[in-house]
Parts: sequence; C-alpha cells; structure tokens
Amino acid sequence: MKKKLLSVLLTGAMAASMFVGCGTSTETTDNAAPAAEGEATESTTTAGGTKVGVAMPTKDLQRWNQDGANMQKELEAAGYEVDLQYASNDTQTQVSQIENMINSGCNVLVVAAIEASSLGEAMDMAASANIPVIAYDRLIMNTDAVSYYATFDNYKVGTVQGQYIIDQLDLENTDKTFTMEITAGDPGDNNAGFFYNGAMDLLKPYIEKGTIVVKSGQTEFQDVATAAWATETAQSRMENILSSYYADGTDLDICLCSNDSTALGVENALAANYNGKYPIVTGQDCDIENTKNMIAGKQSMSVFKDTRTLASQVVKMVGQILNGEEVDVNDTTTYDNNNGVVPSFLCDPVFADVNNYKEILIDSGYYTEDQLQ
Ligand code: BGC
Repeated sequence: MKKKLLSVLLTGAMAASMFVGCGTSTETTDNAAPAAEGEATESTTTAGGTKVGVAMPTKDLQRWNQDGANMQKELEAAGYEVDLQYASNDTQTQVSQIENMINSGCNVLVVAAIEASSLGEAMDMAASANIPVIAYDRLIMNTDAVSYYATFDNYKVGTVQGQYIIDQLDLENTDKTFTMEITAGDPGDNNAGFFYNGAMDLLKPYIEKGTIVVKSGQTEFQDVATAAWATETAQSRMENILSSYYADGTDLDICLCSNDSTALGVENALAANYNGKYPIVTGQDCDIENTKNMIAGKQSMSVFKDTRTLASQVVKMVGQILNGEEVDVNDTTTYDNNNGVVPSFLCDPVFADVNNYKEILIDSGYYTEDQLQ
C-alpha cells in the first residue's frame, strides 16, 4: 500500500500540473450533464489549477446536500476547482460521473459511494490514471484504488443508540420485559453493518435474557435491513409489523432505527397504525424533519454527525495528498475493504436529543431556529 501511495502522490502531483486550468467548476443537480473536457472556465484557479471531483450519492437525503455544499465551499476557499455531482442513488450514473471526472482532469476524487461494491470499473480507471481516491463517509469495497477513508466512527453511532435504550429503560436493573423492533440500513452500504453491530452488541444480551422481546422475530441484519435507506420501505415494513404483532394492544416499547430516514418511516407508520404507549425511537443525522419530531416528542434521540467537520477533514486530506505530506489518519485497523485496511480518519459522532439540540444544532450555526419551526 505504501509503495503504491508514493507513486500515487508523485503522479498525482504531475497530473496536477498537467491539467492546470483545463476543467470547470460545476455544481450540477442530479442527472445534469457533467462539464465537458476543456470547457471554458470562469472559476478561480489557484492551488495550481487543481481540480477535485466530488461524487455524492443523492440529493434526496438532506445530509448529502449539506456534505456536498460544505465540501464545495471549503475546497473552493482552499483555491481548488470543484466538480460536484449527485447521482440520484443510481450506481451506473455514479460510475459515469466518476469516469467523466477522471476524463476531465480531476486530480483527486472524493467519493461517497451509493453501493460499496459497484464502483469497480471507475476505481480501476482512477487507479490506472494514478488519481488518488478518498472514500467519503462510506467505504468503497473490493478495490485497492482507495487511498484514504474519512468518516464518523460508525460503530460508535450504533453504541450511542444502544446505550441510550439501556439507560432510558434502566435495563441493567429492571425485571420488566420490553418489546423492540429493529430497522437497519442499506445492505449495500458498508456503514449499515457497523451501525447495526454497534447497537446490537449492547442489546443482544438483553434479548438473550428475555428483557427485550422482538415480537416479529426479525433480528438478523438481513431481515431488518432497508434497501437504499428509503423512508417508504421502512414505513411499509413497520406497518406490516404493527398489524401482524401489535394490533392486539401490545405496547411497542423500542424502535431501534439506524438513521433518521428510516426513523421517519417508522414514525409515519406509528402515527397511522398505532395507539399504544409511544415507543423510544432512535435515529442518526439530525435531519430537519427528525429534529422537528424530536421537539414534538415523536423521536427520542438522534446522533449528530457534523458534516462541516467531515468536510474540513477531507479538504485537509486533499491538500496533504497533493502536497506530498503525511496524511492525517487516526485509525489504521478497523476498515478493511477486502483488499486491505484503508487508513482512515474517524470523526466523533455526538448524541442529540430534545435537551441539547439547541446547543449543538442552533448555537453552532448548523440550522437556524426558523428551519426547525
Ligand atoms: C451515512 C448516514 C446516512 C445513511 C443514509 C450512511 O452511509 O453514514 O449518515 O443516514 O448513509 O444516507
């Protein structure tokens, strides 16, 4: 890996000088055509006219809009040109966008993959062009083209959710029994397993003891996963569970949801199909709708991942790579993409609920008060 990185750095720097001024800074919407090679540029071309391609999965989910906007702002402030693309959650679109970024002279790629294992062709192309790739938030699997990975501590996100449930219900000291249903993320997203395992490693002992009962019997990751993290899919699955297992008046005490888009689906299902005592509902991301639901008492907690922190870290990595400096990482053991461990920087996720959202979301300038009305 080390040897490869060195050659990447050298040729990356060569590529940087070769492609001076040949790109254009674009922010496209989903499906918009990427800028053509050699198109006239109006953007600033400091930092040696270096261009960074940023491939984001979708505009449908709030967090990726914020991630993209933050990356663009920070990269441009550092003097880079930026080619920012969103792929409507369509893997083939993302592959073409990355290929276009390579063809149009991007010097570094930052990629938040839609599907961890489906970027093979594009990654091969980046590797043969010696263009360094930073996996953004989601690890790209089965390739040696990824030089670095920057994300949040994904396992910790799950433990924050699991520990919250344990503390709220005082599971260590209770002799009561609580019902729980689990909604996890997209099986094509390497993060989803980390979130699920982080929470389940803490909660499984209580399921084994009988303190927690999963009435549907659906506890394995593949049974509780939600394709594409879709709100509608999580909602219809929860509607089925509620009508099959809780229509007899049994209370549902806990809804362990891996993130906010799935939590929203569960909350919609509860609103339409459930009259019992309102359960604990977990989430992740502090999306606006979910934060509103926390304020309204329909979601118990979320996990705040400040996309500004991640963007800054990645911009720092881009600079370090291009300048041939040592790249900041803080984890060299956890994230193996089946071709070896990818050196990673893990940012810290933060617990959020109705008691601290003002401080972490409003006082920090992440949202305005109006956005949460
Ligand atoms: C991210 C989460 C996000 C989910 C759905 C995951 O890879 O880490 O923050 O909620 O994708 O977009």
